Amino acid sequence: MRILSGIQSSGTLHLGNYFGMMRRMIKYQNESELFCFIANYHALTTLPDAKNLSKNTFHAACDFLALGLNPDKCTFWVQSDVPQVTELTWILTSLVNRGLLDRATSFKDKIGKGLRPNMGLYSYPILMAADILLFESELVPVGNDQKQHLEMTREIANKFNNLYGEIFVLPKEDILEDVKLVPGIDGQKMSKSYNNTIPIFEERKIIRKKVMKITTDTSQIDEPKSLDTPLFELFSLFLNNDEREILVSKFETPGARYGDIKQDLFDKIMDYFEPFRRNKERLIQNPSDVIDILNLGAKKAQKSANKVLEKVRECTGIKYK
Ligand code: TRP
Repeated sequence: MRILSGIQSSGTLHLGNYFGMMRRMIKYQNESELFCFIANYHALTTLPDAKNLSKNTFHAACDFLALGLNPDKCTFWVQSDVPQVTELTWILTSLVNRGLLDRATSFKDKIGKGLRPNMGLYSYPILMAADILLFESELVPVGNDQKQHLEMTREIANKFNNLYGEIFVLPKEDILEDVKLVPGIDGQKMSKSYNNTIPIFEERKIIRKKVMKITTDTSQIDEPKSLDTPLFELFSLFLNNDEREILVSKFETPGARYGDIKQDLFDKIMDYFEPFRRNKERLIQNPSDVIDILNLGAKKAQKSANKVLEKVRECTGIKYK
């Protein structure tokens, strides 16, 4: 089974990224043929600042490696190191009806939040379809917010295949039921754009401050606490079933203080990520090792990409000699 997913290099890594997608990807490298990349062309649609983009791209690569992605077990690269994807994007762009993109809810959401839409943002789903189709992906692990993009990818692939023959593999999305949504500290979905994230590789002080800010209700010490809260849900991410039962009874038994629970959660987060934080430190100090890994990954990815792109160039008539 070939599994592919990408993560945008558009900000500081947070719990939502890790529990939503990355942890699952890292697990897949042992069971499947994993393709994993840093989507810096996608990040460009919202991050025109060159210095930030290049820094974020490098950091995103280090994050994945620090968290346990093993480049010997998968194909790991930076999107722009395989520019074949932009060629396929253009070819697909010429096939996609504008109406399809007009329906994209994530585009509408972004405009709704006041973002001035550029054409890259508008075409975002086509670039994503190209990512997926170029590597013959069968399964694509993504967050719930990307579900529509996967539907669009299948629609585009179907249209292409109907026109030109069975070139593309139709991908399925993989959305894990129990971590569909990692809440942010305010209870909305954890997302950089809501400014409600808990970062993973920041200084302890910063992480603690965020944890202490998790929204709680006004129930008093001598009252039971609600389980339907970001504090309970975030804590649960770090617990197995038995540990979760203990937390449930802690919440339901009067006497618990939110402040103490938050401190416990902070300790839990730091313990959990401690070895990864050390890995990240090591990688940051040896950037050329990281670059070597990415160069090798790009080479592997290009080999796969060229195979599909060659077929596409032929059947569409772009290839003329
Ligand atoms: N749009 C995805 C996100 O924001 C990132 C992404 C880009 C992606 N290309 C992809 C995910 C291809 C899966 C497959 O999460």
